Amino acid sequence: MALGISRPALVEGFESMGMDISKATHQDKRTFVCAQCHVEYYFDKQYLTFPWAKGTRAENMEDYYDEAGFADWGNPLRLK
Ligand code: HEC
Repeated sequence: MALGISRPALVEGFESMGMDISKATHQDKRTFVCAQCHVEYYFDKQYLTFPWAKGTRAENMEDYYDEAGFADWGNPLRLK
């Protein structure tokens, strides 16, 4: 029943948020099991990046998407 992190990108994703995944509790790891793969990510210059690469504030993630020229979804009210 020992849980371990197998995806290097998850370790780096936590580092980029200033968090050390090696300090995760057993309960934390129970959520990370699925998060290892079930997370939104992109390949920027053939390297895996997360939408929080510029920071975890909504504005930072908006900058990330604006720079990439991509949007997952557009609010229909705004598109009118
Ligand atoms: C090793 C990577 C990986 C891990 C870890 C993982 N998944 Fe998945 N999961 C996938 C992939 C890839 C698919 C898509 C499979 C397909 O479409 O054939 C998927 C599909 C799914 C689906 C079906 C989605 C759909 O549209 O039908 C569900 C639900 C799901 N996963 C839940 C979970 C849960 C809950 C966990 C943790 C207990 C988990 N997964 C862990 C990779 C992973």
